[in-house]
Amino acid sequence: MYFLLMSYVCGIVLLPLRLSGPEGSCSGRLEVYHNAAWGSICDDQWVIRDAEVVCRQLGCGKALSANGSAAFGAGEGVIWLNRVECRGDEIHLWDCSYSLKNHTDCSHKEDAGVTCADTVRLVNGSSRCAGRVETLYGEEWGTACEDDWDMKNAAVVCRELGCGEAVDVLGNAHFGQGSGRIWPHQRFRCRGNESQIHLCSSSSTLKQNCFNDSDVGLVCADSLRLVDGSSRCAGRVEVLHRGQWGTVCDDDWDMRDAAVVCRELGCGEAVDVLGDAHFGPGSGPIWMDDVDCSGSESTLKNCASAGWGKHNCNQTKNVGVICSGKLYYFCNECNSQLLY
Ligand SMILES: *[C@@H]1O[C@H](CO)[C@@H](O)[C@H](O)[C@H]1NC(C)=O
Ligand SMILES: *[C@@H]1O[C@H](CO)[C@@H](O)[C@H](O)[C@H]1NC(C)=O
Ligand SMILES: *[C@@H]1O[C@H](CO)[C@@H](O)[C@H](O)[C@H]1NC(C)=O
Ligand SMILES: *[C@@H]1O[C@H](CO)[C@@H](O)[C@H](O)[C@H]1NC(C)=O
Ligand SMILES: *[C@@H]1O[C@H](CO)[C@@H](O)[C@H](O)[C@H]1NC(C)=O
Ligand SMILES: *[C@@H]1O[C@H](CO)[C@@H](O)[C@H](O)[C@H]1NC(C)=O
Repeated sequence: MYFLLMSYVCGIVLLPLRLSGPEGSCSGRLEVYHNAAWGSICDDQWVIRDAEVVCRQLGCGKALSANGSAAFGAGEGVIWLNRVECRGDEIHLWDCSYSLKNHTDCSHKEDAGVTCADTVRLVNGSSRCAGRVETLYGEEWGTACEDDWDMKNAAVVCRELGCGEAVDVLGNAHFGQGSGRIWPHQRFRCRGNESQIHLCSSSSTLKQNCFNDSDVGLVCADSLRLVDGSSRCAGRVEVLHRGQWGTVCDDDWDMRDAAVVCRELGCGEAVDVLGDAHFGPGSGPIWMDDVDCSGSESTLKNCASAGWGKHNCNQTKNVGVICSGKLYYFCNECNSQLLY
């Protein structure tokens, strides 16, 4: 009862976690957002069990290692967490015990990070959103067998990578042949609504006729992006229409609209909406105005709006969004209560 009450109060104050690695990566220095600042985690007692929980929470698959001693570089500013102790089977980091405060007794030379196993990537395309499908099996990357891939699998991979909708599945090693192995025994059967490929059911039946020239390629729409923010999950909302990127007007824009954007980009939940060109004016056309999503749409394009290019707006009013990232929140008050 007490906890529920606190959760409710905490619905207002959100505390994101993020990995400061390369874009879309499942490895990097770990950071937590608290009291309006991103801060590091100190590596005292930072072990693989803790990394397992972080990787699970991030939807990043298996933990390969818990890296300490600023292995991914030293952060700046505050160090918020220390003495994280997980059993290893928790769903979220906040289910573990830890100390949350301004840890001035720890230095950034002790920043903690994790190496999780990304489970899927697109290789040798024009962007990270197109290319040959490669999946991780154990600790080795390999290619998928063409006959096993359909648009439902493709939809899941595009979503997992934050690349919008699936546009096409290409056979005949369109993006070249992988140098790694083919996984004839890793055959995914997605329904299409899963958030990650490893959540799809997979059949382990050995597929006999898998050759390198059947390496499957995938093209995702990548028709939505967040620009000029601190990461690909925050910034000015831009949509691609008729080959040109344009902005969206902030009229009537609310958290439900932001939620659709964040979900479509594989960026977790919506944290904030910022109007009045907070992330700067865009240079292209204003493509959307009076956007009114119900919140359940799978893509921004399916939301009600004034129509492509129809607006009474200017670039001083374009909208920006901050998403949580592939991450989850826990709230300040709750954890303070639980901790102390
Ligand atoms: C993280 O730790 C693993 C295992 O010790 C190591 O192989 C890897 O190189 C480390 N990553 C970095 C960036 O140092
Ligand atoms: C953390 O404590 C240090 C030393 O007291 C102080 O300079 C710093 O501003 C504090 N940082 C935050 C974010 O509270
Ligand atoms: C990349 O793709 C091109 C075709 O788009 C192909 O000719 C080339 O061999 C591929 N390279 C690799 C390393 O797969
Ligand atoms: C996917 O759709 C099926 C029914 O088609 C449903 O049972 C399942 O819960 C859905 N999964 C998700 C993650 O939405
Ligand atoms: C695919 O190519 C790799 C490297 O060129 C090779 O080692 C492997 O045997 C090939 N696999 C098949 C099934 O032809
Ligand atoms: C943009 O709109 C604002 C408010 O409607 C207005 O004050 C401003 O002059 C307009 N700027 C341009 C360049 O049209």
